[in-house]
Amino acid sequence: MVNKLQLSHFLHGGDYNPDQWIDSPKVIDRDFELFKEAKINTVSLGIFAWSKLEPEEGVFNFEWLDNIFDRVEQQGGHVILATPSGAKPRWLAEKYPEVLRVNENGERNIFGERHNHCYTSPVYREKVQEINTKLAERYGKRKSLLMWHISNEYGGQCFCDLCQQEFRNWIKNKYQTLDNLNQSYWSSFWSHSYTSWDQVHSPSPLGDSTFLGLNLDWKRFVTERTIDFFKSEIKPLRELTPEIPITTNFMGGNPPDSHVFYDLDYQEFAKYVDVVSWDSYPNWSNDYESTAELAMKTALMNDMMRSLKHDNYLIMESTPSQVNWHPFNRSKRPGMHEMGSLQQIAHGANSALYFQLHQSRGASEMYHGAVITHAMSDNTRAFNDVKTVGGDLQKLQEAIQTKHQAAKVAIVFDYDNMWALDDSRNYADSTKKYWRTIQQHYKYFWEHDIPVEFVSVTDDLTPYELIIDPMHFMMDPAFADKLHNYVEHGGHIVGTYITGMVNKQFLAYLHGWPQALHDTYGIEFIETDTLYPKQNNELICHNKMYQVSDYCDLFKIDTATELGTYGKDFYAGSPALTVNSLGRGQAFYIGCRTDSAFLNDFYEQLSIQIGLTNHKPIKKISPKVSIQVRQNKKTDYYFVINFSHVESEITINGPVYDVLSSQMIESGNQKVAPYGVNIYSLDLKLKCNTCSTRPVLYS
Ligand code: GLA
Ligand code: ZN
Repeated sequence: MVNKLQLSHFLHGGDYNPDQWIDSPKVIDRDFELFKEAKINTVSLGIFAWSKLEPEEGVFNFEWLDNIFDRVEQQGGHVILATPSGAKPRWLAEKYPEVLRVNENGERNIFGERHNHCYTSPVYREKVQEINTKLAERYGKRKSLLMWHISNEYGGQCFCDLCQQEFRNWIKNKYQTLDNLNQSYWSSFWSHSYTSWDQVHSPSPLGDSTFLGLNLDWKRFVTERTIDFFKSEIKPLRELTPEIPITTNFMGGNPPDSHVFYDLDYQEFAKYVDVVSWDSYPNWSNDYESTAELAMKTALMNDMMRSLKHDNYLIMESTPSQVNWHPFNRSKRPGMHEMGSLQQIAHGANSALYFQLHQSRGASEMYHGAVITHAMSDNTRAFNDVKTVGGDLQKLQEAIQTKHQAAKVAIVFDYDNMWALDDSRNYADSTKKYWRTIQQHYKYFWEHDIPVEFVSVTDDLTPYELIIDPMHFMMDPAFADKLHNYVEHGGHIVGTYITGMVNKQFLAYLHGWPQALHDTYGIEFIETDTLYPKQNNELICHNKMYQVSDYCDLFKIDTATELGTYGKDFYAGSPALTVNSLGRGQAFYIGCRTDSAFLNDFYEQLSIQIGLTNHKPIKKISPKVSIQVRQNKKTDYYFVINFSHVESEITINGPVYDVLSSQMIESGNQKVAPYGVNIYSLDLKLKCNTCSTRPVLYS
């Protein structure tokens, strides 16, 4: 069942935890006054409120929550109602210790923290279903109920006996026979052959930790367990409130490297939610990268989240000011809150929601930024910043009917591949940098305002003109066939070093690459040279020399054409960059890790050749200014955002409407303030004058 989230305006608000203030009604009165002033229209309730909702087993107390619902409704707002499973009450852990998680050494946790329940425990599942049923019965028909927020940031794993048993069942179901399992894990090596299903055990520092097939299966299983728990959580909600959409807040993009959340396969998980939502906390103004560099990484995460369902998504949490858990918790510079919030909208988010609306007076997050701080004033920087964004979203209201401009470029991202490559016990752990490599390939397109989508190995590739497939170490033959087919029919692909080494069982390909991969790139892989950090090589291409580090693939040319060669070492002069023409398409292979100068030149030429360059009515001069487009059949919205502390200039081939300053702009130069945002809308009737220079996105 899929329930589309239908919105007539952007959501603005966030986590509200009034369970902390039940005994202080005046605080709650003031909160609601301030919500109104800050143009807050949505509150996420009950996220960790289980002990207030069910203070003793079977004793429920909903009056305080009824009251909050009433107040939200008096102001015409929405509620995103959470199921409280993210933090259990003490009585539950005391009475049913099986709900507590067990670590990889087999030790059971004592009560504490949050997000630490066993995903298998029948008791936990039952208790969660009970409270979820009560919530659905009581609030399912409230007019303000917009959506279910399932638990909070699912993550982690449990190694208890119940989970071990489920793992065994999962393995048995997958492999059917012990022979298949032994073959797949190559278990005769080190005398690890299984003779009974009972011997199957999760990876552990006390047992196996380098059994590659087992490690990967455990990671897959953890995703399966989490989704299975999620399905059990939502069962009563689907039954009692079939029309209410369901989401759970995903994580991602945290410092220092803005890495995608590692522990769960979100491409798989996303199939089970109605709308993707995620929590975004970029550490603006850090001391190791420019604002533009971090903006690029944050843009990428937003594109990744949009790509999970190839649809608009929600920001479920962000901070109005600083957080309390970054290595250094900097304040946002003036303008940055608007910059970051509207960046998300620009990439297809339909919300700016915060953690949290009212700052906790004590406990773990008392210094985390909030809309209403300890000062309880409407005159803090954070409050004013939030109010500004609230106003912007109101001005943008009609843009809720738009989507991010369709992309012609897609980057392949695959969790199995990421996990397998990291665990491969080959190359160099410190320089594999799969995620960083994806960022490096993405960067050119972000700087040139060319939209990018991310695809999984099961996605349809046909909507795209260019597929970038970096470091695809673990590649299924079916995907190699898909690439082959895609190129034959006119597609362009770019592959890189460390590709096509193992199949999905984590077994090496014998006799070289799968045939389809070999035929696609027209080369024959020989070996990968792993360089030490202080070593380098060169890529010579069109009489230019580019720096090469970390990895150099050596290969023989079959049907491909050489475009570049290595400059040094025993493989000097041998191919490093090739292109193969196949059917109506082309497959490029970049055999080594290059510097960004190469990727810039390479993608620039390719973009011209394929016709990816976007013709916009707005021209920028700085790569630190990003122009993202949301559009529908009637209107284009151009989000022009300056990710730098220096003012920049753009040229407009107008007329366009300036949404934030509410005025028409004719042609000419416009300023974009430091960390500033300009939004221009272009009406279809007007833009028809320039139809010939505009990419045709709707026919
Ligand atoms: C996460 C959690 C919130 C809160 C914030 C703080 O996203 O979901 O409950 O702890 O972090 O940034
Ligand atoms: Zn368990």
